[in-house]
Amino acid sequence: MWGGRFAEGPAAVMREINASIPFDKRLWAQDIRASKAHVAMLAAQAIVSPDDAKAISDGLDQIAEEYEANGVPVDLALEDIHMATEARLAELIGPTAGRLHTARSRNDQVATDFRIWVRDAIDAVEAGLIGLQRALLARAEENADAVMPGFTHLQSAQPVTLGHHLMAWFEMIRRDRGRFVDARARMNECPLGAAALAGTGFPIDRHATAKALGFDKPTDNSLDSVSDRDFAIDYLMAASQCALHLSRMSEEIVIWASQPFGFVALPDQWSTGSSIMPQKRNPDAVELVRGHAGRITGCLNALMMTMKGLPLAYSKDMQDDKPPVFEAHDLLALSIAAMTGMVESVTFRTDRMRALAESGFATATDLADWLVREAGLPFREAHHVTGRAVKRAEELGLTLAAVPLSDLQAIHASIDDRVFSVLTVDASVASRISHGGTAPAQVRARIAEAKEVLR
Ligand code: ARG
Repeated sequence: MWGGRFAEGPAAVMREINASIPFDKRLWAQDIRASKAHVAMLAAQAIVSPDDAKAISDGLDQIAEEYEANGVPVDLALEDIHMATEARLAELIGPTAGRLHTARSRNDQVATDFRIWVRDAIDAVEAGLIGLQRALLARAEENADAVMPGFTHLQSAQPVTLGHHLMAWFEMIRRDRGRFVDARARMNECPLGAAALAGTGFPIDRHATAKALGFDKPTDNSLDSVSDRDFAIDYLMAASQCALHLSRMSEEIVIWASQPFGFVALPDQWSTGSSIMPQKRNPDAVELVRGHAGRITGCLNALMMTMKGLPLAYSKDMQDDKPPVFEAHDLLALSIAAMTGMVESVTFRTDRMRALAESGFATATDLADWLVREAGLPFREAHHVTGRAVKRAEELGLTLAAVPLSDLQAIHASIDDRVFSVLTVDASVASRISHGGTAPAQVRARIAEAKEVLR
């Protein structure tokens, strides 16, 4: 395709290092779509004849069918998906195929194909994340009243509800979706027609191709159009943040599934046994989701390092943009699907969660707040009095709610039996009615709003 000025073909290793077809064949559908939009525009602008445009367009349709049926043949001599498709087109329709590349270059071609691919990838991720959100909502609603220990420092802090905890995960995913949506909106400008770097002298209509390919507008600077890979990095940043969230959820499920916690029973479908320890049930699915976050953020780092310091406009380094995006996308899609399956089918041991919430003096803050409200103590003093009550409960081997009133009064005379109404875990969570608090009524309100938004 470019051999005119060369006397010799490339060395074998040159051929190998130069070829992107082993991985960029994944862009075939986007490549054909963009080529069809390009040739339709060339015909509309009378840059190629209607007959030639039809032959090219029909040939591209046939190639799409072949790729669909048999996959893309990998021939390193053809370098990349763009040259492979054009070569096949020439086999099918002869020299007319050569007119397709009028007023474009592989530089704007690959920038366009890849943008469309990343845009499609975002749409797929969005669909997956919506599925995960629905699963979280369903489980949160089921467990809006289920009391569990809330943690800080992974130490029992205050009782919360499981529904509230699952809705915290929902919020993380909601923001992740926002990042993908932002990235998609920002990248939705069409580089096609920037040609090699400087634009073209042919009377092309970039607005027409942009529109045909679903972009908001053509890009405004040809140099930037062929050098910009921000869109891929934006995708990887959003993917990385999402993977970090999925890994934090995974970590909680791993902890919850451990015997000392026993908060969840893992579903058969999302766990594995051990070949040597028959009693084992391992949380492999979420361990791998947790692990994949490392690889996904590695892909982000890879592409950032590739792009760092590259002068304008195109450099071949940029061919390396695709493998990390493909890898991260595959890992993220799998992670989202696995997390969704896990959330849908895990068994929550709410009895066990409640027992632990009751045992950890998790209502100590409620006692302190009661002393402030009902006995008029400054919070710092109430904190101190409560600390002594916890100490007494520990000595007696009782929960705070079970410590006899006489013991509490020995610590502070102003305590009376009304205090017991705030010392149960149910009273504690029910009292947290501030917006976004863990009170079941609040959690249900957030779930109702979230359902409305998802509908
Ligand atoms: N396969 C190349 C890539 O992915 C296409 C662009 C090639 N452009 C060039 N000037 N050699 O980056």
